[in-house]
Amino acid sequence: MVVLGIETSCDETAAAVVEETGDNGRPWRVRSSVVASQTDVHRAWGGVVPELSARQHVRDICGVVERALSDADLDRYDAIAVTQGPGLIGSLLVGVAFAKALAWAKSVPLIPVHHLAGHIESLVLGGGEMPLPAIVLVVSGGHTSLYRIETPGAYELLGRTRDDAAGEAFDKVAKLLGLAYPGGPAIERVAAQGDDRAIPLPKTRLTHVDRNAPHLPGRRDFSFSGVKTSVLRHVAARRVAIGLEPDAPLPSQHVSDIAASFQRVVVETLLDRLFEAARAYGAGSVGLAGGVSANSRLREEAAARGSVEGVPVFIPDLALSTDNAAMIAAAGLRRYRAGAVGALDVNADPALAM
Ligand code: KG4
Ligand code: ZN
Repeated sequence: MVVLGIETSCDETAAAVVEETGDNGRPWRVRSSVVASQTDVHRAWGGVVPELSARQHVRDICGVVERALSDADLDRYDAIAVTQGPGLIGSLLVGVAFAKALAWAKSVPLIPVHHLAGHIESLVLGGGEMPLPAIVLVVSGGHTSLYRIETPGAYELLGRTRDDAAGEAFDKVAKLLGLAYPGGPAIERVAAQGDDRAIPLPKTRLTHVDRNAPHLPGRRDFSFSGVKTSVLRHVAARRVAIGLEPDAPLPSQHVSDIAASFQRVVVETLLDRLFEAARAYGAGSVGLAGGVSANSRLREEAAARGSVEGVPVFIPDLALSTDNAAMIAAAGLRRYRAGAVGALDVNADPALAM
């Protein structure tokens, strides 16, 4: 079976063709994956502008899908998987409307996919099926959510951010430091020259044990607004201390030290939670997916902790960490096999539940 995947939930127009291999270790093969990034459209605004994003998807989607089909070098596909949500409504609508029209024209089934289910399947695309139970942390610009997977395709939420997503915190702190959008890669770049212990920043731990089920490990939520505010306060105090004019940039060594300290605290917070949950549930493997999993410090420390704890760590290839459509096609294949085919009246849902 061959699935065409389409993803337009945020600022990437993506299409991919994924083929089922029937192989137990690596169930799917990526035949093609095309991503048109809108970073250049949004950079001048310092973040994603929803209306501009939707319009750019309209411009790019035909070319991106055509390219994915020609790169795949296959003359047919058996189904179309599309991101139904969550995401920006105008952007989602472009992908969903396009996928519906194409599914109707080609008489193939349409499979609506949850964006985070896609990120989770990016782990399987790269590394094969995860030993279960698996604990997976999806860390992106819009989400920081921890899941337990006992059965492939079924995700139990163990915790999530109560305020900013980790990627959003990277983006906001970058802006505050005068770094260009997108913030995650910019912070990573300057942090390489910084001292990660230079600035004391708080690590927030939110744990909630259910009174009705005290034997269970309880919820593990995240919060990144505290560390973001600490950076803000630190920058303001620093500017006064060194007598900077209001518009003058911070000295680059300060920027690097703050970036490195912030990155360390976020990485440690994420991994503490992930591995705590892995221990609590006796995980057979852990995974990190979503745009922030492109961060090299996070990748390296996750691998190091995994070997200390003796639990295999799954992290997607860099190209599959950030938004792409191969992960949507893979999640679509899994849903199709579970009998979840959508009708042509399916609609985009910006707040779709998993
Ligand atoms: O998964 P993604 O491409 O889109 C969403 O679904 O949100 O994630 C984008 C997020 C952005 O916040 C971006 O700053 C962050 O991932 N990101 C990174 C890195 N690369 C992308 N954060 C930290 N380090 C990186 N290298
Ligand atoms: Zn994403």
